[in-house]
Amino acid sequence: MSLQTTELTKSFGGVRAVDSATVTFLPGKVNALIGPNGSGKTTFFNCVTGMVRPDSGTARYRGRDITGAPAHRIARAGIGRSFQLCRIFPRMTALENLLVAVRAPGLLGKLLPARQRADVARAQHLLERVGIEHLAEAQARDMSYGQQKLLELAGVLMTDPETIMLDEPAGGVNPALLERIAALVRELNAEGRTFVIVEHNMDLVMSLSDHVVVFDRGRPIATGTPGEVRADPAVLEAYLGV
Ligand SMILES: Nc1ncnc2c1ncn2[C@@H]1O[C@H](COP(=O)(O)OP(=O)(O)OP(=O)(O)O)[C@@H](O)[C@H]1O
Ligand SMILES: [Mg+2]
Repeated sequence: MSLQTTELTKSFGGVRAVDSATVTFLPGKVNALIGPNGSGKTTFFNCVTGMVRPDSGTARYRGRDITGAPAHRIARAGIGRSFQLCRIFPRMTALENLLVAVRAPGLLGKLLPARQRADVARAQHLLERVGIEHLAEAQARDMSYGQQKLLELAGVLMTDPETIMLDEPAGGVNPALLERIAALVRELNAEGRTFVIVEHNMDLVMSLSDHVVVFDRGRPIATGTPGEVRADPAVLEAYLGV
């Protein structure tokens, strides 16, 4: 088991955003987490990655309890994530945005020039990998939304995560870029990285994922292969409200 939650719960006021969710994601696979708007997908991500402390329940990664652990510790354990709305620094260059993802704080960073050189080399390699190396010195705010999504993906890869959680990687990107993102996910998965992807684009989910978990009102209502969940009446009901 790589990433697993047991009865994970998080409320905001009277709203149970995540409601006693027991979920297992398959290691080495592309897992998808889908569900209607407001069904708790982002809150679930936030609970698992240390951005939000769950009210109750547990999250475990590779057998270790990570419930309520701070985000930096969860990142060090091997989980990287992106954000539904791109989280990058608009006035920094693409290269600088990648370096802040891993920069050793303050004096330590200055004492480690070799490490800095290694980080720059890695950042350049990752910009190439996602196909925006020509934008290394461009300010992020001057890049298109799709280019910013690719930059954010490169940022997630800076820490070399074994498990990558993406919140709507294809949201608002054009079809050509969508194909590039899908190809990258396939490649990175073939290298052994586990994915958990929240995505509303069903064509992408169906073509990319091995294992799908469907949320409705904060809890999983269906789990299986893309074909299985697509045929599940409870899933149709959740989406269509029939
Ligand atoms: N910080 C917050 N404060 C109050 N309510 C919140 C907060 N974050 C989420 N919620 C509520 O929790 C519920 C789940 O929201 P969440 O963003 O996790 O859903 P989602 O499945 O990611 O939706 P979408 O597909 O639209 O991104 C919603 O009812 C939402 O309004
Ligand atoms: Mg969301």
